[in-house]
Amino acid sequence: MRRIKIKELLASGEPGQKVIVKGWVRTFRSNRFIAINDGSTINNLQAVVDFENMPEELLRRVTTSAAISVVGVVAESMGKGQRIELQVEQLEILGDSHPEEYPLQPKKHSMEFLRENAHLRPRTNTISAVYRLRHALAFAVHKFFNDKGFYYMHTPIVTGSDAEGAGETFRVTTLDPVNPPKTEEGKVNYAEDFFGKETNLTVSGQLEAEVGAMSMGEVYTFGPTFRAENSNTTRHLAEFWMIEPEMAFYDLEDNMDLAEEMVKFLINYVLENYPEDMEFLDKRAADEEKSKPQKERWEMGLVERLKFVVDNSFERITYTKAIEILENSKPHKKKQFKVPVEWGIDLGSEHERFLVEKHFKKPVIITDYPKDIKAFYMKQNDDGKTVRAMDILFPGIGEIIGGAQREESFSKLQQRMAEMDIPESELWWYLDLRKFGTAPHSGYGLGFERIVQFVSGMGNIRDVIPFPRTPKNAEF
Ligand code: 4AD
Ligand code: MG
Repeated sequence: MRRIKIKELLASGEPGQKVIVKGWVRTFRSNRFIAINDGSTINNLQAVVDFENMPEELLRRVTTSAAISVVGVVAESMGKGQRIELQVEQLEILGDSHPEEYPLQPKKHSMEFLRENAHLRPRTNTISAVYRLRHALAFAVHKFFNDKGFYYMHTPIVTGSDAEGAGETFRVTTLDPVNPPKTEEGKVNYAEDFFGKETNLTVSGQLEAEVGAMSMGEVYTFGPTFRAENSNTTRHLAEFWMIEPEMAFYDLEDNMDLAEEMVKFLINYVLENYPEDMEFLDKRAADEEKSKPQKERWEMGLVERLKFVVDNSFERITYTKAIEILENSKPHKKKQFKVPVEWGIDLGSEHERFLVEKHFKKPVIITDYPKDIKAFYMKQNDDGKTVRAMDILFPGIGEIIGGAQREESFSKLQQRMAEMDIPESELWWYLDLRKFGTAPHSGYGLGFERIVQFVSGMGNIRDVIPFPRTPKNAEF
């Protein structure tokens, strides 16, 4: 007799079939009904014990979160909402869980409380559903690109560069932090460090992915990235995962088309393949709405807005046009925003939310940003002021994707690096790509947790990654 996972059993188990199921107790009612969950699905299996023929001592150990193994026979269920149940013949406690000590109760806990119990929170319906979606989305990313003939390229975690130039890198060093070796001028002597130079955790795999694009044509990286930005928001992590495709011979239009197609594919994949988790999260999101003030509520339910995104094309406008819309946003005009709107500002979340949630009411792609607020590698437009950047903004999330057509001209890139004080000694290899067979190319980065947030409807990014890293928090 083989062990069967609950997902498979609920889908295809037939009355009379004898099986072994292992999992954790969710609830135990009336000394008779054990709800078992093994993580394979959001649904519990109802196991029915004949308590008169079971030792009392054993039944007392059937407590919330105890690990158990049951042998039983599948039977049709009289219970509501379940096709089958299991009549228990043998029950074994694999691991006790002391009710006085176990922190999670079968009631609703706050997300804050669950975060403090990151090691136990995947035993809740909400968090386990989110983690399954996370898996589904990651799988769908690989499927999307593989089906298109892209190659998955592993880019390094430890690098010597700061691709985004924001100065938010985490140092990687083996030098003694208290007494590092010094040079004659009294500076830290990185020549003695492990790699013989200053290194940091990567903020983006893009620059290395460009090496892939300029040889393999179409590649993507999907890995962890790290930013020491002190942003304590519901959308920032210090360690997050990023999906970064990079394509030779793509201009900005091609880049936007790919990004839009990919996001729609990912959402569709989850809707089609994870209906039970989505149904649960849809109800959860609807409940959450009730506790919000009217004007902060979504106009649509979770699944409804996912379908809306899939079914409608994203709005595409230039940065200059976006500024015009914001400047003319009546009735409050300029007072409407904390940061006054003028050409050249970096759009804040208040501006982005206005454009996406109030004005267009759908995802928006903004292109051709001022070069001074964007990274050094973006292709310069002929106006001398803007670059071929694109950001994709989503309702409730803000920026979900950032990308660009890359500067392919050696001299323009070299000049821009000089203007921005980026040493050529650090990125000589990157410049080389413009020296040997340069070509138009483009790419973008999708913040993985942000798409998980959008699809799951979770309000805080800390609840869509198993072990969130945020300022002053790396407990688990
Ligand atoms: O806009 P960003 O900084 O772009 C890049 O890193 C480019 N090198 C990408 C590329 O062209 N290959 O980051 C890309 C995306 C953002 O749009 C956002 O979704 C996510 O990464 N992101 C974060 N997600 C969570 N926490 C943070 N601190 C994030 N910073 C960026
Ligand atoms: Mg960005």
